[in-house]
Amino acid sequence: MQDLDSLTRDLLDRIDACTDLAALESVRVAALGKKGQITERLKTLGKLSPDERRIAGATINRVKQQLVDAIEGRRGSLERELVERELLAGRIDVTLPGRGEGQGGLHPVTRTRLRMEKIFRQAGFTVAEGPEVEDDFHNFEALNIPADHPARAMHDTFYFPDGRLLRTHTSPVQIREMRNGQMPMRIIVPGRVYRCDSDMTHTPMFHQIEGLVIDENISFANLKAVLAHFVEQFFERARALRFRPSYFPFTEPSAEVDIQCVFCDGTGCRVCKQTGWLEVLGCGMVHPNVLSACGVDPGRWQGYAFGMGIDRMAMLRYSVNDLRLFFENDLRFLRQFNRG
Ligand code: PHE
Repeated sequence: MQDLDSLTRDLLDRIDACTDLAALESVRVAALGKKGQITERLKTLGKLSPDERRIAGATINRVKQQLVDAIEGRRGSLERELVERELLAGRIDVTLPGRGEGQGGLHPVTRTRLRMEKIFRQAGFTVAEGPEVEDDFHNFEALNIPADHPARAMHDTFYFPDGRLLRTHTSPVQIREMRNGQMPMRIIVPGRVYRCDSDMTHTPMFHQIEGLVIDENISFANLKAVLAHFVEQFFERARALRFRPSYFPFTEPSAEVDIQCVFCDGTGCRVCKQTGWLEVLGCGMVHPNVLSACGVDPGRWQGYAFGMGIDRMAMLRYSVNDLRLFFENDLRFLRQFNRG
């Protein structure tokens, strides 16, 4: 019985020392399992006399119960510790500052388009749109560019197998609007256009804004006034304009317009290649052939048209020197335009 006492103390110590459930289970097996030390003691009871057996049996069973209680108690606290530890590991600190929701912003080209639209709206223009997939008639033919016309070579056109094409300019919308619309007409047409071209200042897709005014007493002077007003509003100061005679099949006379350099005020710098001038648009009086192709009587109506690159205006406004930056979607670049 004396060695049962020390065995019990030893087992109770081992139970107390267990730091995880697996260790506790092995102590339980060692004590109470089929071949456990306590189980073995119970097996020896058969060899004793009935009186001895009663006393010894009661003692061993009390010890056994004591061990079962100790194991269950230890198991309980180990399980609680485990839960505590898991809760602690998955703890969420609700007092930490949030990660925030990144605020989106408008693309610089979009901002520029909206700014241009606003200025023209205030000057009495409405905004029209047309399809980017065009046909030969609207993109060329009706604009006085027949099939064998050399001006087609200026347009590096993307064609579809069925003969349709990606519009090379916004001018086809002039045709669509004049054929459907009512005179007089005063529209601008912003949109994407496509040319098979790619370098620092050309991308296969870019943006134009077309202007078209048709009325009964429209002259080149009106065109000059509208463009001068637009440029002043857009750059927030008056800029000299220079009209250089040019050629477009759909306007006559035609001009290319330069503005006094917005970076050096015309004294000459790297951006204007020391000329003091920046080319920004093409324009002219709508060719009578174009009016006729749209069922508009050139004897009664005249008008002017212009086409301007939106991306180019964005480059000038934001001093961006590589057009491709606008289309690479690098957030480090784009984020700079999201203030104000
Ligand atoms: N469509 C011409 C271009 O893309 C620009 C233009 C528009 C010129 C309207 C004259 C009148 O180059």
